[in-house]
Amino acid sequence: MWFFYIHPLLQIVALLFGSYAVFLGLKRFLNVFFQFGSNFNWKHHVIAGQLALEDWLAGMILGTVVARVEWGGWFITGLHAKIAMVLLPMICFGLVSGLYMNLKPCRRKVLPLAHGFNNICIIVLVLVQIVVGTGVFKEFVLGL
Ligand code: HEM
Ligand code: HEM
Repeated sequence: MWFFYIHPLLQIVALLFGSYAVFLGLKRFLNVFFQFGSNFNWKHHVIAGQLALEDWLAGMILGTVVARVEWGGWFITGLHAKIAMVLLPMICFGLVSGLYMNLKPCRRKVLPLAHGFNNICIIVLVLVQIVVGTGVFKEFVLGL
């Protein structure tokens, strides 16, 4: 039974890192577009963002494997699995665009905006996943 808890825990821990990354990213946004707020902590943002996005990816794989091994099917959790399929390309874009901007720093406006918007949408969908995932946990694991 204990292994059912790893996936939800991983995804919620990643949300903490993701929230810190948004908090730092929004400072950059306010700085660049409204000349308001303090400096953008680039290094902390990259570390927190990477931890969040990579944790979500690993957690998705783990959830899929646990569901397959325990209940013998792929994507059987309905809405929870569907939202995860929407999240997958978004997480890949967030990670690739972030890594690219980190490796090739220069003055940019459009890519950081697309990256920031995409990643804030990820946070919103992850919040939805917590609600939907709690339903999955009750139905599939606790049998309620
Ligand atoms: C949950 C994860 C993440 C969130 C919520 C997030 C959010 C944001 C936001 C809101 C901005 C500011 C956008 C703007 O000013 O228009 C930003 C910029 C940036 N992000 Fe992220 N990000 C995340 C992950 C990452 C990762 C994984 C990396 C690198 C590996 C990264 C690298 C960057 C860089 C380098 C910038 C600044 C680009 C520039 O100033 O040219 N981010 N991010
Ligand atoms: C980033 C957020 C999340 C993503 C992307 C995600 C994704 C997934 C995926 C892809 C599966 C496999 C589904 C299948 O094969 O039908 C799964 C399983 C599952 N998810 Fe999530 N999930 C997230 C958050 C959560 C949260 C917060 C909870 C609980 C509160 C949760 C509860 C579950 C449960 C109970 C399973 C069954 C397998 C297991 O326990 O490992 N998920 N999830």
